[in-house]
Amino acid sequence: MALWGGRFSSETRNEVTQYSESISFDQRLYHFDIAGSKAHVTMLAEQGIIPAETAKAIREELDRIERRIDAGEFRYDIAMEDIHMHIESALIEALGAEGARVHSARSRNDQVALDIRLYLRSEVDSLIAELRHFQRALVAQADAHPRTVMPGFTHLQHAQPVLFAHHLLAYVEMLDRDAERLAGCRERINVMPLGSGAIAGSTLPINRERVCEELGFSRVTRNSMDAVADRDFAIELVSDLAIFAMHTSRLSEDLILWCSQEFDFIELDDAFCTGSSLMPQKKNPDVCELTRGKTARVYGALTALLTMCKGLPLTYNRDLQEDKVAIFDALDTVKMILKVYPPMIETMKLKEEKMLAAASDPALMATDIAEKLVELGVPFRTAHHRVGAFVKYCREHGKALDEVTLGEMKETIPEATPEFLTLFDPVASVAKRNITGGTGFEQVAKQLDFWKKSLEF
Ligand code: ARG
Repeated sequence: MALWGGRFSSETRNEVTQYSESISFDQRLYHFDIAGSKAHVTMLAEQGIIPAETAKAIREELDRIERRIDAGEFRYDIAMEDIHMHIESALIEALGAEGARVHSARSRNDQVALDIRLYLRSEVDSLIAELRHFQRALVAQADAHPRTVMPGFTHLQHAQPVLFAHHLLAYVEMLDRDAERLAGCRERINVMPLGSGAIAGSTLPINRERVCEELGFSRVTRNSMDAVADRDFAIELVSDLAIFAMHTSRLSEDLILWCSQEFDFIELDDAFCTGSSLMPQKKNPDVCELTRGKTARVYGALTALLTMCKGLPLTYNRDLQEDKVAIFDALDTVKMILKVYPPMIETMKLKEEKMLAAASDPALMATDIAEKLVELGVPFRTAHHRVGAFVKYCREHGKALDEVTLGEMKETIPEATPEFLTLFDPVASVAKRNITGGTGFEQVAKQLDFWKKSLEF
């Protein structure tokens, strides 16, 4: 009979036992379940709710159980539903009726809320550390190529020359916001729900602040109904993960394009690519493609959580057990991404001449000509129109922008001077963008300094 079986006269059907178990996935919470129970019994003894010797015996037995689980010697059985029941049953098996005191003033509803919060708090801390590592890999690659010029794209059309380092540092910014979001989410995770009971708190004189302090939370939850019903901290975390995955998916798309034959800007290390079972020449950027695919999976987890919660009346409903499937999958997926990307970025090789050659189409400097006209006092819209007409002239005459004479240029740009014919160098064009946030060499060097300091290189 299950631990809750007192009012039942028949056994649960086999199919229902299989249907309702969560031990197959929530076993990963064991460490946090045990830490929570140890803090709980310490408080119960201090409050005179259970004998001090019992609390001590329970803590020692919980340590033994933890060691057994660590060593893979603990047996799971779906008849015991979830990790909470498994650990409580093991306690009772070892300590008899004294072990059964552990669940005083506690429900699995506040217990599971506590366990997930403890688990997520620890996961968030390692995610932030891994994100910093990912940023460092990007900064190191940018730092190794501080003067490499490449075409920048808008609408996937050549736009203006930019520094490769500037492009990579854009992702470092995104990852920084991802880390900040996680840190903000951690504050909302770090609130202590135990003592909320099943829904209404407890008649026993527990000391929630004591448990809070013991487990390192910043405060206790204010409303017991909210505490057992709420999963918004997990939804927030998974949306942060979804945004991170989206950023990495965009980076992946850039990398896929860059290592295509058409772009040919980079080569990913063999260790991060796979071949074709049919075409012997192929080297495919599968890791990047999988990241685009896995990002969909993280969005799926977010959608699952939002949908799961939207129709639930207060407070706890068993639907919430499914939260862990989505949360764990999103976390595991993102943790894999974070493992694979730093070394892939660190080992990728650049084809700098190819990048510069692609940025050397003089059409990429059309904006520079328009801005030169603005310097000479021409209103920008007029300047834009004149340079547009110049580009049209060149196209119609089958010439590149730097293949015309000054006389030809003056047909569409009357203000043109000999200096205008020197504006087609992509490296000089980059150098001139020397304003905060711009792609100029000096500015990118400043960005690199900033990141190297803040990421403690
Ligand atoms: N395994 C459950 C979950 O993950 C624990 C809480 C069960 N509570 C209950 N009243 N059935 O949500």
